[in-house]
Amino acid sequence: MPRETIAIGADHAGYAMKATLAVDLAKMGYDVLDLGTNSDVSVDYPDFAFAVAAAIKSGRATRGILVCGTGIGMAIAANRDPAIRAALCTGGLMARLAREHNDANVLAMGSRIIGIEAARECVRQFLSTSYASGRHADRVAKLTHIELEAAE
Ligand code: RB5
Repeated sequence: MPRETIAIGADHAGYAMKATLAVDLAKMGYDVLDLGTNSDVSVDYPDFAFAVAAAIKSGRATRGILVCGTGIGMAIAANRDPAIRAALCTGGLMARLAREHNDANVLAMGSRIIGIEAARECVRQFLSTSYASGRHADRVAKLTHIELEAAE
């Protein structure tokens, strides 16, 4: 089975957490597509959210992880792409349910909101939990339909 590629992105507020998580992901056996940023020089979070969204949309990555100060900007930006279901999570339960119920394909986190251990737990749950489908399938499908209607 081919290794799964995880796209990761951050702004200046999230880059240090992203760097730590990138090392973790590689140790866990994932291929990491690091789309920046890689310093604390101020940048604009939408650029990195859009880059991760594009990587998922094109198939270069299957899932993504985004970090900014709060995670809010990253989640808002990523969710503007109809292919993305980004979930802003502050703990493992949210990350697990984002996968199980919402089939989230992007995990967004805030480095000024949670510490690295909580972020690691979010990543573990996000990557190890499958979408439950079943009663959730029609609801998730509605997200896609409304996006398609809006694009018409
Ligand atoms: C940057 O200062 C901060 O606004 C950004 O990282 C993020 O929190 C936006 O949602």
